[in-house]
Amino acid sequence: MSLTSFSFPTPTLFGAGTIRELPGRMERLGIRRPLVVTDAGLARTEAFSLLARVLGEDRQGRDWHLYAGVHPNPIESDVKEPAALFRSSNCDGVIAVGGGSPLDAGKAARLLVKRPGFDLHQFYSESDWSGLAPFIAIPTTAGTGSEVGRSSVITLDATHRKAVLFHPELLAKLVILDPELTTGLPPKLTAATGADALTHCIESFTCQQFHPMCDGIALEGIRLVVEALPRAVSDGKDLDARGKMLVAAAMGAVAFQKDLGVVHSLAHPLSSLCGMHHGLANALCLVAGMRFCALRKPGLYRRVGMACGLDLHSAPDSEADSKTIEFVGTFLRGIGLGTKLSDHGVRRDQLEALTLQAVDDPCHKTNAVPVSVEDFRRLYQECL
Ligand SMILES: NC(=O)c1ccc[n+]([C@@H]2O[C@H](COP(=O)([O-])OP(=O)(O)OC[C@H]3O[C@@H](n4cnc5c(N)ncnc54)[C@H](O)[C@@H]3O)[C@@H](O)[C@H]2O)c1
Ligand SMILES: [Fe+2]
Repeated sequence: MSLTSFSFPTPTLFGAGTIRELPGRMERLGIRRPLVVTDAGLARTEAFSLLARVLGEDRQGRDWHLYAGVHPNPIESDVKEPAALFRSSNCDGVIAVGGGSPLDAGKAARLLVKRPGFDLHQFYSESDWSGLAPFIAIPTTAGTGSEVGRSSVITLDATHRKAVLFHPELLAKLVILDPELTTGLPPKLTAATGADALTHCIESFTCQQFHPMCDGIALEGIRLVVEALPRAVSDGKDLDARGKMLVAAAMGAVAFQKDLGVVHSLAHPLSSLCGMHHGLANALCLVAGMRFCALRKPGLYRRVGMACGLDLHSAPDSEADSKTIEFVGTFLRGIGLGTKLSDHGVRRDQLEALTLQAVDDPCHKTNAVPVSVEDFRRLYQECL
């Protein structure tokens, strides 16, 4: 058995209304003048107004500062600009609020606060990232789980590809999971972000690494998504469903410290080359990815199906897989995600470029079965 390290360290506050704990918690962390990092869309939502009220609307520009320019699928300027504002405003901590995009940008901005002008392309040549500014993560989508993760996914200028900047020092000092902040998320984004959480749980459970703690967390995450996501999509104000989805998303991300698989390698180029939302990209590739793995490793999805509520104890391997995959397909269609890549503007002439990026993506290296360039080509064609 190879050496493995286990670590689940992020302090997390959960529950409707927990956002009101923020000022007291900031004080304990020594944050007096935070930079709030978000995106322009979120800055116009009731979720953001709630946060602004908690921080004191009239104190913005004095006791707290705002950077609201993060792009979906963040790029390097989304890291550079808040870092520059942090320094010029003498901030002492970062609060990122929003989906995975502002969370990743806010998380990584601290790198450039510590080392102004640093070339993020050289991230892995630098090992000492100690002493980063304290970071509080407040997700308003329930999908990426970036709030509990050590990585930040940024599309770098040098490569135009998504780079995963991974370092334990990137971890948040505090996570606030307040379902009230997610009630305004529209059904389509609720479904797509929830599909990301589901994909994290399925891929981390089935990938090759040894991590039984993550496996247990992934299976319970799947159960929660199956129970709560359809309700969160059909009634955005269902606080119980919203809360369960926030927890499931965080669990998915804890689980994927184990690693991910082929579906995420298919999804990443769809965002960097076609601008597709990350969760949607996963949703459109999930069934094909599962089918591909099940054919080569029969029985792989039995426990996934059982976590979905299917009785598969005595089913033969191939039946356990096919019933699970059928369930996932029906589940995705039920929340409006039964479409093809071409329905979202992806063209046949883009498939080769997508394939070449996917094969370079690190996620499939730990997939349950090996994936070749020809496999990626066929999988994209199947999803088109
Ligand atoms: N760091 C990680 O571990 C990790 C894991 C998976 C994905 N990611 C990254 O996360 C990003 C995707 O994040 P996402 O899926 O959360 O989407 P997102 O952050 O890009 O947000 C999508 C849209 O939802 C809106 N929105 C967010 N919360 C809202 C709310 N409560 N009400 C109304 N609108 C709201 C935003 O304004 C935005 O327009 C991608 O860049 C992906 O690569 C990171
Ligand atoms: Fe993801």
